[in-house]
Amino acid sequence: MRQKISDDRPTLMRYEIREIVDVVQKIQELDKNFKFVGENIGDPVAKGWPVPPFLKEILIDAIKQEGDKIFGYTHSRGYPPARKWVCKYAKRFSPSANLDYEYVLFTSGLGAAISTIYEMLPHGKRILQPTPSYPTHASMESFNANLESVSYQLNPNNDWQPDIEDMEAKIKVDENIVGILVINPNNPTGAVYSKETLEKIVALAEKYKLFIVSDEVYFRMVYFGKKFEQITEIANNRVPLVVMRGLSKDVPWPGGRCGWLEFHGIDLDPDYKKYCDAVKKRILLEVCSTTIPQMILEQMYEHPKFDDWNKEYNAHLEDNSRYIAETLSKSPYLKVNPTYGAFYMMPLFKEGVLNDRQTLPIESPEAKKYVEEITSKPGLKLDKRFVYYLLAATGICVVPASSFFSKHYGFRLTTLERDPAKRNATYEKVVEMIQKYVESTK
Ligand SMILES: Cc1ncc(COP(=O)(O)O)c(C=O)c1O
Repeated sequence: MRQKISDDRPTLMRYEIREIVDVVQKIQELDKNFKFVGENIGDPVAKGWPVPPFLKEILIDAIKQEGDKIFGYTHSRGYPPARKWVCKYAKRFSPSANLDYEYVLFTSGLGAAISTIYEMLPHGKRILQPTPSYPTHASMESFNANLESVSYQLNPNNDWQPDIEDMEAKIKVDENIVGILVINPNNPTGAVYSKETLEKIVALAEKYKLFIVSDEVYFRMVYFGKKFEQITEIANNRVPLVVMRGLSKDVPWPGGRCGWLEFHGIDLDPDYKKYCDAVKKRILLEVCSTTIPQMILEQMYEHPKFDDWNKEYNAHLEDNSRYIAETLSKSPYLKVNPTYGAFYMMPLFKEGVLNDRQTLPIESPEAKKYVEEITSKPGLKLDKRFVYYLLAATGICVVPASSFFSKHYGFRLTTLERDPAKRNATYEKVVEMIQKYVESTK
């Protein structure tokens, strides 16, 4: 090339949730008996969740009534009636919300919104990330800054609640931090944040003049008697707040690629307003996000059967969370927190349990050779080594905690399995394999 067109920045982008699929495909090629059990990707549809029949009916009716219109472009910032409905809906849960529909922007999935919010920050300005984090946020934030992410700890010894002291310590020493990311309910930990925790985060943002980004894509998935606390209500008139929501997980319709950004507190700070206007401008360049889900958004969420559907969904997630936490807690080598929201869990290995010589028996000689090769790479994290062995030995695919920028070793799994027999078999196997793996060098 005339000039160099590549650099090292892509090393800052990490998404093991999908990268591990390449390893799965390779093992599938090498081992004809390999049976994949995907616990890596949070796709309810892939895990057998039925799309509610009322949604399919709404879609069919929309095609009949609206005709070809629903296959066209819509407004670049989003279908105006859908944006107006988002404002009304925000007010229902948070009466003090005063959202202007001009500051509700639809994107092709929240993934696209995540890229944009970091992209539009002036170069070098940072948004403090949680750790463990959802890797798209941490990757896109650090990719834009061209630096590793700056993060606050989620504390596994306090039900994965954010460590507020750590948060303040990080903010204090780094002038470039302009915002705090909160993911609630949390991916990857399954934690749901208390009102007190959110109050403390808002107070910190107020004290240091920061804005908050609240990723709430799982806000309808809360169980075990927990309540989703509205940060919108707490931050109102105090702190600029960007809320992120979407329909990938709760309808569920991840392939619909429909998420949205809500910019609250627009008049609190002219600089924040300018930033929001920059995001608005940037979104125009995308032409528009997927039209169909936006056109039926209100009908879907306001459907008389939606609440029952949501309750059933949460009851199932609660049951899975209880069973999986109880089963994994039988392992003396793990520390397990049950989850209260979303559909993930992150069990951790107790300190000193893992080493770089542990293995599991892998039947196929070719797959065994391949796993030995990929686990001998210098610097490979110990939990990644475990995950690769578990995958090749059993077909069970989880994601290493270290790939979520975690300082603790462990793994993230999904709690989405619909079939209790399959779920039980999977997690009993995981416990058995952990014992075998840990004790393989004893
Ligand atoms: C916390 C969080 N935010 C955003 C997303 C992206 O969702 P979408 O499918 O709308 O792009 C995910 C997907 O797993 C997620 O877990």
